[in-house]
Amino acid sequence: MSSPGEEPPSIFAPDGEPLQYFIETYGCQMNVSDSEIVASILEGAGFARAPSLEDADVILSNTCAVRDNAEQKVLSRIKYYGHLKGKKHRAAGRPVVAVLGCMAERLKTQLLEESKAVDIVVGPDAYRDLPSLIGLIRGGHSSAAVSVQLSAEETYADVAPVRLSEGRPDAFVSIMRGCNNMCSFCIVPFTRGRERSREVGSIVDECQRLVEEQGVRELVLLGQNVNSFHDKATASTAAAWAPDQGYETAPGFGNTFKARGGDGVRFAELLHHVAEAVPEARVRFTSPHPKDFPLPLLQLIAETPNICSSLHLPAQSGSTAVLSRMKRNYTREAYLELAERVRDTIPGVTISTDMISGFCGETEQDHEDTLDLMRRVGFEQAFMFHYSLRDRTHAARHLDDDVPQDTKLRRLREVIDTFLAGQAASNSAQVGTRQLVLVEGPSRRSSETARALQGRTDCNRRIVFPEAMVAPDMATQQSGVPPPVTSLRAADLIGAHSGNVSPHDLFGPDVLKAWGDDAVELKPGDFAVVDVVGCAGKTLIGVPVTRTTISEFSMRA
Ligand code: SF4
Ligand code: F3S
Repeated sequence: MSSPGEEPPSIFAPDGEPLQYFIETYGCQMNVSDSEIVASILEGAGFARAPSLEDADVILSNTCAVRDNAEQKVLSRIKYYGHLKGKKHRAAGRPVVAVLGCMAERLKTQLLEESKAVDIVVGPDAYRDLPSLIGLIRGGHSSAAVSVQLSAEETYADVAPVRLSEGRPDAFVSIMRGCNNMCSFCIVPFTRGRERSREVGSIVDECQRLVEEQGVRELVLLGQNVNSFHDKATASTAAAWAPDQGYETAPGFGNTFKARGGDGVRFAELLHHVAEAVPEARVRFTSPHPKDFPLPLLQLIAETPNICSSLHLPAQSGSTAVLSRMKRNYTREAYLELAERVRDTIPGVTISTDMISGFCGETEQDHEDTLDLMRRVGFEQAFMFHYSLRDRTHAARHLDDDVPQDTKLRRLREVIDTFLAGQAASNSAQVGTRQLVLVEGPSRRSSETARALQGRTDCNRRIVFPEAMVAPDMATQQSGVPPPVTSLRAADLIGAHSGNVSPHDLFGPDVLKAWGDDAVELKPGDFAVVDVVGCAGKTLIGVPVTRTTISEFSMRA
């Protein structure tokens, strides 16, 4: 930062144009959301977005430290930035290179020592410092700058993120940061600090703005432990699903830190407020911790049409002994009971998970227990990795990373195969169902002769379906003649790219006549009713029936 009396840092290039920045983002959705916060801070200070990395005056790499290979990827990318610096230095002045995020927080000054290409290192709680640090380097006041202080309060609540993925119908809203759990394998508490939550009012305002002013149709509430959200500054309205007798975790799950009491608004109540404020937009949330799924939260999800029925329940292992070494605060039995309670309470819910193969001391029997848990739950989505030791964690300090690499990889393969078998069975069971789909845009399977769209079901399954004219709403569609569509034809249209997709192919002249001039073309951001007629791997194949809204679908489907 500039000292008193120093000239303020310039955000203009020598030609008088604003400096241009480019951000590359690695890691989880929190980093994607943080990059939007960084973009907002930089644009608020007068920087402009560069069309490409090669054009940028400032390159920012928002990094992940969760596994060694995530860091190796960034280190090799930094070499490329160094190469660009060499070229640009000769031509037009070197770009400033800033490393942000979890790897910056973990390695701190070590990054500067190991790579001459890096000028600035900034941790996840210090992004407000970026404009002045860039000014310091550009102005030649310093050759390197570091800001990695973690904060107990920073939530960036007042920073309106700049959406970097324009055109998409979904948007991230960061509601809490940090993690108090200290799982023994995990670096995140060291890179992201302690839990803190935004105030409910600022979150609801942001969600409303995104939907009403920017046309967003799906909000993804984000946090390292999103459902551990606790806004202590706002009084609870103590509705039926926010019991005032004190907060309870899911039965059989414990907390690493006991200090969970106190007034304020918990996650279920926040979710209720958000869903109520934007009834025609979907609400999802990630990444939750399985301990913070009390029954009232499950009931709220089941009863609210615009809260999606897909839950992430990171298990990490199916063995109680391994879970204990991981310091997860639950047993295999508690997890299985929670999964069963979730499926019993929320009809048609999908459950996703995280699994780690080959954690310290994992035996063949522990591994078999994991496979068995996966078969019993039948996960619809999973993020599976082999264990990678992270310095500073409890496991690195106190446990032996004693499972040989080839055993880790073999077990991971078996975990993946078990998951894929369960996923295929779950997807096949969708054939013949009718789904509410948010249209995202053209499918990768689209071609000149067979144009197809893709979207997501409420349960977060990917679905591909032919472009076609459809009824404008369910009321019109239900008053028309049933569409003469065969599953074979729809699958052919997409899979084999054969023939033109005309409205007549899908619905026939009688139905089109019934809809008359009202027939509409589906576009990104529309909700559509789609019949599932097949599945190819993890993707469903469908036939669009009509455009609709969330409220209409919940009343008429
Ligand atoms: Fe890491 Fe555990 Fe926190 Fe998740 S809950 S971020 S695995 S320490
Ligand atoms: Fe990676 Fe940090 Fe996210 S370690 S997974 S970017 S919280």
